[in-house]
Amino acid sequence: MNSNNDLERNRELEKANRILQKKLQRCENERKQLETDITAKEFLLKKVISELQDSQSALTRRSKELEITLQNLQKMQAQMLQSEKMSALGQMVAGVAHEINNPANFIHGNISYLEQYSEEMLELIELYRCHFPNPPSEIQNLENDIELDFLQEDLQKILDSIKVGTERISAIVLSLRNFSRLDEAELKLVDIHQGIDSTILILQHRLEATLNRSEILIIKDYGVLPNVECYAGQLNQVFISLLTNAIDALEELENKQITPKITISTSAIDSNWIEIAIADNGIGIPESIQAQIFNPFFTTKPVGKGTGMGLAISYQIVCEQHQGKLNCFSSVGKGTEFQIQIPIKQVSCNII
Ligand SMILES: Nc1ncnc2c1ncn2[C@@H]1O[C@H](COP(=O)(O)OP(=O)(O)OP(=O)(O)O)[C@@H](O)[C@H]1O
Ligand SMILES: [Mg+2]
Repeated sequence: MNSNNDLERNRELEKANRILQKKLQRCENERKQLETDITAKEFLLKKVISELQDSQSALTRRSKELEITLQNLQKMQAQMLQSEKMSALGQMVAGVAHEINNPANFIHGNISYLEQYSEEMLELIELYRCHFPNPPSEIQNLENDIELDFLQEDLQKILDSIKVGTERISAIVLSLRNFSRLDEAELKLVDIHQGIDSTILILQHRLEATLNRSEILIIKDYGVLPNVECYAGQLNQVFISLLTNAIDALEELENKQITPKITISTSAIDSNWIEIAIADNGIGIPESIQAQIFNPFFTTKPVGKGTGMGLAISYQIVCEQHQGKLNCFSSVGKGTEFQIQIPIKQVSCNII
């Protein structure tokens, strides 16, 4: 009886064991399935993460590109504005030069006749005086009233100063014409010294003494330069920007003992390159901002006085348009020097 029971129990136990083993097997299978699922999901997740990372870096790259495009657009817009301004200024200057030229020529052309007629009249008076040493009192009185001797002497001086004046007007007209150079779109062989001289003449009014400072001295240390192939109007624009900055820096000087001066030196570096250096003994540029001065819109001047575009455009004209170099050396309290180096001939361009 007992052994029957044991047998029965054994069978049950075996059955339970089989069931358990099956369950274990199923569990094992399920575990394996889960493991595979997890690996697949993990793979998928990693893929998604790496795709996300890729798209994030693509986005960052794109936004950087957009930022650069925006900066370029701003630069271009400012340059277009400036060049439009300069071309409008050039046309106006050329117009004014033309308008002044006519009446100035008119005066200049008549001076020689005026000189000749007045000489002849004075000769006639002299002759009268010789032949009639004792004129009637009416004539004698008028002679005294108008101070004839002084009048004779002064007339020549007046004529001389009119001559100097009209010559000066002619020089200004010539400079204005040189400056405006409506042919600036073309590369030309140009006398650089003439361009600098015209620019100085245009800025003459800013060099004169003011209540706050004495006259700004311009020291020209010109070397022997060949004619240089360049866009003359644009190069004149660079001279104006650098000279204006130098004048502004001299205006800021607090030490009234310093004589404000600008030295302009030119030299041929070798047979292919020339250099123009414009140096002032103004306030100088702090080292901390020297790296920024060529950036568009960088200015330390009050609103309304500076746009911060002068040097950015000068850099573009010298370095990009003329394949040259523009460098700045400055120390606070001593002054600043800008060096322009440009090739005498532009590569792959035809002279017109
Ligand atoms: N010769 C100089 N001496 C001292 N600082 C200078 C000189 N030249 C340029 N700088 C500095 O560089 C800055 C940028 O000059 P930039 O000519 O580009 O602009 P700006 O003169 O301020 O304005 P603008 O567009 O009217 O020329 C100036 O604001 C000034 O701080
Ligand atoms: Mg400036």
